[in-house]
Amino acid sequence: LVRILQISDLHIVGEGELAYGVVDTAACLSGAVNYIQSVALNIGKVDGLLITGDLTDNGRAAEYERLKELLNPLNYPLILLPGNHDKRDTMFDAFTNQIWISSSEPLNSHHRFGEINVLALDCTVPGQPYGELSEQTSFWLREKLAEVNGKPVIIGLHHPPFKSGIEHMDAQPLKDPEILLEILGQHVGPKLVLCGHVHRYITCFHDGFPISIAPSVAHSVYLNQSSGAPSEYALEPGAFLMHEYDPSIQQFTSHLVQVGPHPGPYPFFGNQKN
Ligand SMILES: [Fe+2]
Ligand SMILES: [Fe+2]
Repeated sequence: LVRILQISDLHIVGEGELAYGVVDTAACLSGAVNYIQSVALNIGKVDGLLITGDLTDNGRAAEYERLKELLNPLNYPLILLPGNHDKRDTMFDAFTNQIWISSSEPLNSHHRFGEINVLALDCTVPGQPYGELSEQTSFWLREKLAEVNGKPVIIGLHHPPFKSGIEHMDAQPLKDPEILLEILGQHVGPKLVLCGHVHRYITCFHDGFPISIAPSVAHSVYLNQSSGAPSEYALEPGAFLMHEYDPSIQQFTSHLVQVGPHPGPYPFFGNQKN
């Protein structure tokens, strides 16, 4: 079994700052890290931690340093890709010790966990809120999928290639999503596509494979699909995803896990009252 945890949209700010003047994003991440540690024995071995972008809120070096400190207790192999709030160069400089980082232009990376290949894509466009697969990244993805040659693959990128129905988020989409979908269509093996950006758990099924957006461990984008709805966030419970691949049945399974602690566990049977 290969098990990958996915956290997303951490939006880490500097020491003493709050995102949007309200959200203590470092406390949200540290809560998630503590919770993951507390359930680690229950879920079993974790092979990698995938972070699907917006690692920091402003892409500043101090924010990446703070992020590294906050992630330190987990000690899992990292799979990082940038979001529109990140800055390639600063992110590259912060993680040059990671062997898989070879270039900041763009920050694409290939990771292997047993039978599974994880391809982390950089779909950011410097200075823009929307995303786009550059020609360089499209070429890289085609080459990597050819190399993977039908083996199970996880593809990560920040901007989802489908609409959420939330207007102000759909206004900063992955441009030309059909380019990505066409390339993915060339891969015949099992595949799972993992995104962030929308700060909500949303899954779309395209051509028989799932494309999921992870929730944020910090603030959520407020669910309002009415036309002209304002750009708003809410403080819903932070959550993350746990993805597993079982090679014996060639199947991906994804769990949504809300950050605790929660009351419980309680036995279903035994000497409970009521
Ligand atoms: Fe975000
Ligand atoms: Fe984003």
